[in-house]
Amino acid sequence: MAKKIPLERILHNQGFGARKLCRIMVWNDEITVNGQPCDDPNAEFDLENLQYTVRGEAWNYREKSYLMLHKPSNYECSHKTQHHPTIYSLLPHPLVVRDVQCIGRLDEDTTGLILISDDGQFIHRMSSPKHKVPKVYEVTCKHPVDESQIAHILKGVQLIDEDAPIAALTCTKISDHVIHMTLAEGKYHQVKRMVAAISNRVEGLKRIQIGQLKLPDDLAVGEWRWLSEDDMAKLSSE
Ligand code: URA
Repeated sequence: MAKKIPLERILHNQGFGARKLCRIMVWNDEITVNGQPCDDPNAEFDLENLQYTVRGEAWNYREKSYLMLHKPSNYECSHKTQHHPTIYSLLPHPLVVRDVQCIGRLDEDTTGLILISDDGQFIHRMSSPKHKVPKVYEVTCKHPVDESQIAHILKGVQLIDEDAPIAALTCTKISDHVIHMTLAEGKYHQVKRMVAAISNRVEGLKRIQIGQLKLPDDLAVGEWRWLSEDDMAKLSSE
């Protein structure tokens, strides 16, 4: 039989603050569980399919959090930022309390798909160089891109501080100035350095896909959403 857990502990584990604070929220009638008000912090609930509201906001119980964010420009992928706000300010506070982390960083001027989780194993699987999860970038270049530059990127370019040339898995011309590049690695400023190595320059960079998961068209810049089972399957097929 599934183990039942006191409400106060559930709220605390889900990131709603110290246990004392969670107890007070329950006493103050700020919580409903599975559609019913609950003012007893010690009332015990089965975690499976548990739905609750906190001050009117609906939540599902989640053992671990898996989400995607459409990162805007001028946000930094770090908790201690230097020049711009942190991407974590775009997430609900309980998720930040749960210590979710972004999986691989994007530069402050890069936009697009970023995965965020508090599941250490998932973070490791998605970010470890051993797993080579492919990432697709839409790159807007300063100068028109010609076939010889594409061939060079596909053959491999030598970057300073790297032992061997690095090649993109795919490189497709979308328009005169725009290419789609798939990379198996996530080295520091990799796209910008590879494009510089073919005597061009990145003017705009957006990550549009990780593994088989595409940045959804209806996820606006700055918005986040939970990863669905379907999304997770697209990531685990790597
Ligand atoms: N490559 C870059 O140069 N910057 C990014 O943000 C991601 C990949």
